[in-house]
Amino acid sequence: MQNTLPETQSRRLLGKVALITGAGRGIGLAAAKRFVREGANVFMTDINASLVEQEAAKLVAEGFTAAAARHDVTHEDSWKEVCTAIVARFGRVDHVINNAGSFTLGSAEDAAFDDWRKTMAVNSDSVFLGTRAAIELLKANGGAIVNVSSIMGLVAESNLAAYCASKGAVRNFTKAAALHCADQGYAIRINSLHPGYVATPLIEEFIHTMPPDAAKAAEDELLNHRIPMCRMARPDELAAAIFFLCSDDASYMTGAELVADGGYTAR
Ligand SMILES: NC(=O)c1ccc[n+]([C@@H]2O[C@H](COP(=O)([O-])OP(=O)(O)OC[C@H]3O[C@@H](n4cnc5c(N)ncnc54)[C@H](O)[C@@H]3O)[C@@H](O)[C@H]2O)c1
Repeated sequence: MQNTLPETQSRRLLGKVALITGAGRGIGLAAAKRFVREGANVFMTDINASLVEQEAAKLVAEGFTAAAARHDVTHEDSWKEVCTAIVARFGRVDHVINNAGSFTLGSAEDAAFDDWRKTMAVNSDSVFLGTRAAIELLKANGGAIVNVSSIMGLVAESNLAAYCASKGAVRNFTKAAALHCADQGYAIRINSLHPGYVATPLIEEFIHTMPPDAAKAAEDELLNHRIPMCRMARPDELAAAIFFLCSDDASYMTGAELVADGGYTAR
């Protein structure tokens, strides 16, 4: 089925197929919306099956081609099921966006080991499993993989020890995987994306866990002192960066890190 698009859309991914993890909300959902508007067929996955199925159904109701599946990105068997399902549904895959992730609080001194392991599983193991699965899907015909890291993969915060470690791992694993694909002669580009603060449910839920005064002080510090552009990103601004990395405009980019942070790491 052809996607119906407003005249103004470029449809630069017409006929392409994209697998996007953590697509039930936030950055992943914004990427799915951008990709269908560019003409792609999207396979949206999330550990929250009802949420992602609901969002995919809304896109289908708008005339786009989207499918959804429950997926736990930390489990190898779940990756196998999803890869089988996307090939059965669309017959090909061109782009894989390893986006699902979460965070836990804790410093090098007080982070619970269990939280460390959970964070590494959802942010780092997932990207290893997802990149390996993606290479298998893409190596015959080529394509692009985007691994969503964070500015916390480049710089650090003392109370985000496990998150910083997990996102740093994504950054450098992405380079190793990109080099491997180039060495093998696969036409697969793999890059990492490093968002700054993005106004998604992840951040909103975190702010709501804080007492109102502390939340207000944290927001003031962030917007007025830490982020040069004095605002958080909108999810669609990160979706644009993901789209760029998958598009032919990024044809000479592999093993690179793209930062979209309103200037945060320029200080
Ligand atoms: N929001 C930010 O400020 C920010 C900044 C830098 C990086 N990031 C990264 O961007 C990515 C997306 O973040 P977001 O803000 O959109 O988060 P979000 O919490 O709004 O959405 C993440 C989605 O991932 C899903 N998910 C969580 N664990 C999963 C699992 N094991 N398997 C499959 N799906 C799972 C959740 O159900 C959710 O729908 C994450 O990797 C995050 O670390 C976010």
